[in-house]
Amino acid sequence: MMAVDYPTAKSTVMEEALQKIKVTKTTKSRLSEVDFNNLVFGKKYADHMLVADFDGKEWKNAQIIPFQNLSVSPSNAAWHYGQAIFEGIKAYNDQEGHPMIFRPHDNFARFNKSAERMGMPEVPEWLFIGGLAMLIDLDRAWVPSNEGCSLYLRPFMIAADEFIGVRPSDTYKFAIINSPSGPYFNKPIHLLVQDKYVRAFPGGVGYAKAAGNYGGAMYPTIQARKQGYDQILWVDGYEHKYLQECGTMNVFVIIGNKAITPDLDSGTILAGVTRASVMEVLGDMGFTVEERAISIDEVVAAHQNGTLREVFGTGTAASVAYVEELDYQEHKIALDTTKYTVGAEVIERLDAIRTGKVADDKGWNLRV
Ligand code: COI
Repeated sequence: MMAVDYPTAKSTVMEEALQKIKVTKTTKSRLSEVDFNNLVFGKKYADHMLVADFDGKEWKNAQIIPFQNLSVSPSNAAWHYGQAIFEGIKAYNDQEGHPMIFRPHDNFARFNKSAERMGMPEVPEWLFIGGLAMLIDLDRAWVPSNEGCSLYLRPFMIAADEFIGVRPSDTYKFAIINSPSGPYFNKPIHLLVQDKYVRAFPGGVGYAKAAGNYGGAMYPTIQARKQGYDQILWVDGYEHKYLQECGTMNVFVIIGNKAITPDLDSGTILAGVTRASVMEVLGDMGFTVEERAISIDEVVAAHQNGTLREVFGTGTAASVAYVEELDYQEHKIALDTTKYTVGAEVIERLDAIRTGKVADDKGWNLRV
């Protein structure tokens, strides 16, 4: 075990959070109801949640309260017109059992980018980072230590106006709920390259973590599931051949000694925090990481000439998910994931950083 120093939230941010966020603790913890040895993704929620209201000018009524239902009018603008964004972040315990949040400032920055694109107000650091730190401090017993498990943190914002005319809401609600979670996928996945339906176009909202991006993917995903696939590998909407994302993840293709992932230039791809971390870790492993347009034809050709080694998805929820089958029109690419040495090393290195097994040279963990 090594003694390591992790960054903590800036004291000014924490001071403001502690001053502005009122805390009401639960009188009845539900912790004992959770089987930490059999955690699945997103079914159980920690004792406390955070809520705050934007009144058109500023964020108010910030509170940590026992996890509970929200009361929302049927005329709430978010139901009808989809002004809703979210983030996914994870907290892990270090080797001494102290919670650490993985790269929350990156998610904070992305949340505010999503907010801008959706015509929603920015959230201040005291509310997002300070709120996360206060919540996890209170619910530290909810951070799992079992391998492959973590506390999945879900900040989100919805429009709050009670008005069904179509215009940006004046008022908003921000909330954070946390879920002790196991792996998102429990086996390697099968992907169908979708060349009819499109996830995102340049100029659209593809780069934002907007709820509607996920809603729009449901119908094509249902069709793919009916054919036995787990997820869709999305390609661009013009030529239907350049890789975008797979399901709810970014995608990496290992060809020879190169790791290739689609670039973010078109604005159609989510700038994944796990994606950025994996790119850095792959570089540390000696791979040339190419962030560029990659077509499905290139992947098929690499498979045919024997240089395609691995395909995997990356995301906060899924971490690194191996692709076992990738089907595109008449091409069926079967991959032996038991030989995925690259993906395996990426997972090992990432996990070691996230759980404090090695020194966090990159300053990615925020100690609570
Ligand atoms: C995440 O990986 O955190 C996501 O947001 C993907 C999904 C669970 C919606």
